[in-house]
Amino acid sequence: MKKTDKIFIAGHRGLVGSAILRALQQAGYSNLLYRTHADLDLMNAEATHAFFAKEKPQYVFLAAAKVGGIHANNTRRGEFIYHNLAIQLNVIEAARRVGTERLLFLGSSCIYPRHCLQPMREEYLLTGPLEQTNEPYAIAKIAGIKLCEAYNSQYGTNFASVMPTNLYGPYDNFDLESSHVLPALLRKVHEAKLTQSKNIMVWGSGTPLREFLHVDDMAAACLFVIQKADFKDMVNIGSGQEVTIRQLAELICEVVGYQGDIVYDTSKPDGTPRKLLDASRLTQLGWKARISLKEGLQQTYQWFVQNESLTAETSVA
Ligand SMILES: NC(=O)c1ccc[n+]([C@@H]2O[C@H](COP(=O)([O-])OP(=O)(O)OC[C@H]3O[C@@H](n4cnc5c(N)ncnc54)[C@H](OP(=O)(O)O)[C@@H]3O)[C@@H](O)[C@H]2O)c1
Repeated sequence: MKKTDKIFIAGHRGLVGSAILRALQQAGYSNLLYRTHADLDLMNAEATHAFFAKEKPQYVFLAAAKVGGIHANNTRRGEFIYHNLAIQLNVIEAARRVGTERLLFLGSSCIYPRHCLQPMREEYLLTGPLEQTNEPYAIAKIAGIKLCEAYNSQYGTNFASVMPTNLYGPYDNFDLESSHVLPALLRKVHEAKLTQSKNIMVWGSGTPLREFLHVDDMAAACLFVIQKADFKDMVNIGSGQEVTIRQLAELICEVVGYQGDIVYDTSKPDGTPRKLLDASRLTQLGWKARISLKEGLQQTYQWFVQNESLTAETSVA
């Protein structure tokens, strides 16, 4: 990938897309192409094809998607499958038609079976039933992976899929109705500190194990894959650092400076008991995560406090 090549970042205002944009800018790439959702709705096939026909991007990062936590995934099941399938079909087909040299499709670790062997390796895809709460989203993501693979096989394209673990960082969604566990906890603890609440409520038992990766590490991995790793299928991206939800909540309280109690609401679902990616296919090529969870939380909390007006308004006690 040359510094002057035309690169389209789909979803450049989101958590992942904005980190990829920052990483490309910092690395000196100068021909970057992006559109807001309002300017180009990637669910609109005609508009997407017209955009690609005009711009002919040589590289594409497909980080536009409908994304959310357990609650949003579970209650807006139709939206999650339809929006994601539509975006993927339009962008991947448009890239094929204009001869895009390389496309990176952003998937998610929820594509793996609910009771997947741990750590999860790429070859465990489609070896068992999925987690029910986010099945429609996962099915859409699996379809995107298979679309890239099928196009590579039939048309000789060079499209790859990356499967990140749970991500966090600046520009995350901090809306308590629709966010992932880490930004939701960060906001809850911050608000509890401001209102001097005696305790905070955490969904589930606190025992599920989760792996987290700072989004700047993720962006670095995406650039690494698109430049140096000739994967034509899918590859996991993870930090290898696992914590329980309880440990995460405690660490967030420490970073925010909140002294109250943590109460676990066991009437709420836990989701998958353990989710750890085996990222050895990538780490064997020389990439590794650099930002520790504590350091990443401190940086993200600082960003959240400075940008509170940018983050979603919804606040659920
Ligand atoms: N967050 C995570 O922990 C995580 C973990 C693993 C994988 N991923 C993957 O990474 C990708 C990006 O996730 P994210 O967390 O960055 O999501 P995000 O913060 O919600 O950003 C998604 C982006 O997509 C754009 N978008 C949505 N629908 C669109 C449409 N119809 N047309 C044009 N743009 C549209 C959004 O634009 P607007 O804001 O203007 O609507 C937003 O910029 C997803 O594929 C997700 O599966 C995320």
